[in-house]
Amino acid sequence: MSAQGSAGLHQFGRPRGRVGWLVGHLMALKNDAMNRAALDHLDLQAGDRVLEIGYGPGRTLKQAARRLERGLAAGLDHSEVMARQAARRCRRLIRQGRVEVKCGGVSEIPYADESFDKAYAVNCFQFWPSPVNDLREVRRVLRPGGRLVLTIRAAERPLRFDLARASGGLSRVERARQAMAAAGFEDIAVHRRKAGRLLAVSVVGRRSGGDA
Ligand SMILES: C[S@@+](CC[C@H](N)C(=O)[O-])C[C@H]1O[C@@H](n2cnc3c(N)ncnc32)[C@H](O)[C@@H]1O
Repeated sequence: MSAQGSAGLHQFGRPRGRVGWLVGHLMALKNDAMNRAALDHLDLQAGDRVLEIGYGPGRTLKQAARRLERGLAAGLDHSEVMARQAARRCRRLIRQGRVEVKCGGVSEIPYADESFDKAYAVNCFQFWPSPVNDLREVRRVLRPGGRLVLTIRAAERPLRFDLARASGGLSRVERARQAMAAAGFEDIAVHRRKAGRLLAVSVVGRRSGGDA
């Protein structure tokens, strides 16, 4: 089944309407461990400028901003419902200029070349329309030496109840690793961490050049 192949999955790939609003709150409740894994692998420094793609409810964007003393946590998501929910959740940080929330797709990131030190996406890569080209677009907005973390939900063995489709996660991880290499990322490493009964698998790579 394709990512868009059922109504339920469609709401995770692009939340819409009232159901999408509820799905956003569900993600904020359920995905904390996965998102913390991504932030830990980013190793944020006080002045970093970081981009999240597919911020959903915006909870992780808020946490990223709190790990920065200065710098910026910017987010891009193509769901208008999620853009409203995230803007509401982060309203104080937005007023302080520490968070930016934009609505748009990963294939055309509305930022200039080399705008960010780091970028990440959690439970999102599987929805990207053109993985290698989209990763090249992420690479464009990273400075040389900048870091990318893609965190993907997976399971060690097939699950009986698998609403989040974690059973196919490890093959998704391998596709992400290959696509990152094809898009010109270097020093690619895969890290697994327990997230409840599931795994949070982070594929970490670096844009060539510059300091890591
Ligand atoms: C399953 S949700 C995950 C949300 C959040 N990262 C989390 O882990 O809780 C996927 C999010 O990525 C967004 N998304 C999917 N494909 C996208 C694309 N091509 N460009 C931008 N955002 C995208 C969706 O709108 C949705 O908010």
